[in-house]
Amino acid sequence: MKTIIEPFRIKAVEPIRMTTHAERTAILERAAYNLFAIPSRDVLIDLLTDSGAAAMSAEQWAALQRGDESYAGSPSFERFEAAVKALMPFRHVIPTHQGRAAEAILFSLIGGPGKLVPSNTHFDTTRGNIEATGAEALDLLPDAARDPRARLPFKGDMDLARLEDTLKRDGHRVPCVMMTITNNAGGGQPASLANIHAAAAIARKYAKPFIIDGCRFAENAWFIKTREPGQHDRAIPDIVRDIFSCAEGMTMSAKKDAFGNIGGWLALNDDALAEAARARLILTEGFPTYGGLAGRDLEALAQGLSEIVDEDYLRYRIRANEYIGERLIAAGVPIVEPVGGHAVFLDAKAMLPHIPPLRYPGQSLAVALYEEGGVRGCEIGTVMFGRKPDGSEQPAALELVRLAMPRRVYTQSHADYLIETIIAVHERREGLRGMRITQEPKALRHFTARFAFVSD
Ligand code: F0G
Repeated sequence: MKTIIEPFRIKAVEPIRMTTHAERTAILERAAYNLFAIPSRDVLIDLLTDSGAAAMSAEQWAALQRGDESYAGSPSFERFEAAVKALMPFRHVIPTHQGRAAEAILFSLIGGPGKLVPSNTHFDTTRGNIEATGAEALDLLPDAARDPRARLPFKGDMDLARLEDTLKRDGHRVPCVMMTITNNAGGGQPASLANIHAAAAIARKYAKPFIIDGCRFAENAWFIKTREPGQHDRAIPDIVRDIFSCAEGMTMSAKKDAFGNIGGWLALNDDALAEAARARLILTEGFPTYGGLAGRDLEALAQGLSEIVDEDYLRYRIRANEYIGERLIAAGVPIVEPVGGHAVFLDAKAMLPHIPPLRYPGQSLAVALYEEGGVRGCEIGTVMFGRKPDGSEQPAALELVRLAMPRRVYTQSHADYLIETIIAVHERREGLRGMRITQEPKALRHFTARFAFVSD
């Protein structure tokens, strides 16, 4: 059969409250045009994030009942640890309440003023945690990957030449080399197995630990299996183990590719660093056999890790986004190509050339999608990345709107509705106006900034 179906049946449902265009106009005004400020009951299709928004399986709900809530030595931790190690063979697995807690612990230990942390692309919380210690976060994405229309299979690769240059020139400042798979900020694009191994080899040559941000590891493994020569016949868990075997550690948000509604971990091979991390964990998260999580969360994650590497799931997952992408391209809507693993990214710069970057075309587009169809996406552009630590503002490399797909939540008719909404906004794009920020915090401003339309 050619049709790829959702490989599950639905037995618990959550109603969607329908809203009118006029209601949404008023809701936007009340939220000062920040989509993070809109109550989720006022959203029809919520694509703000794929993080923590997954539908759990019947087996995960069953596993919750098994949760052992002992403060120390819970068997739920043993099952969680075994499930992580089955895919990511690190010596130490340290549970945290989510990915950023793992980042905060790691960089509180190895960051600090004057340090420099290179990566293919850091996500915003990773960058935020690095910069909070006084260190510098450096993105080393290849130039070709910056072109939203370049149809390359692995646009999440590390620029190996620039990594080597950085280590040659500034190696004394570098505490570790990071790699994000898939690359979220740059469009959900995967890194190839060859590139991951090559980046790890360069890090090893300069005696730097290689740390993977593994949030969307299963989606990345699926792209390796389907796009990389020689990988087609390998099982997904085998590819996953291959990816992580070349690293000395990982940070993880289990809210992505572990089907968790909450959770994360820091995994390390270095005994001394792990001991220091556990000491910090006890201060900030909890005892090392639960971290920031309940025993039942650990059980749900252990089960989720066995489901996320299922090929029927991954085939459907990646195809669902491709389906949306194909229809948008056919309608002339500019998107990041090829479509990423967890999201479809609209190219606001190409769609709205009349709105300059410092008038936030991505924000304007995200607002229009909500008003048109109650669809909530997320600006990934100058609002998110434009404010520099010294207070200056610069245009981001890309002006995108991310439509991130929660796992196992929406169906194909939701996808068709989404496509219709985007095309309707695209047809009236020349009437969209730029925006300005009327109020913003010092860091991570996209979460709480307030906006207004500009008339120029
Ligand atoms: N790394 C990447 C690549 C991420 O995408 C995220 C979260 C994190 C780290 C932090 O994990 O949320 O569990 O603390 N990304 C979410 C998103 C928020 O919407 O893409 P966390």
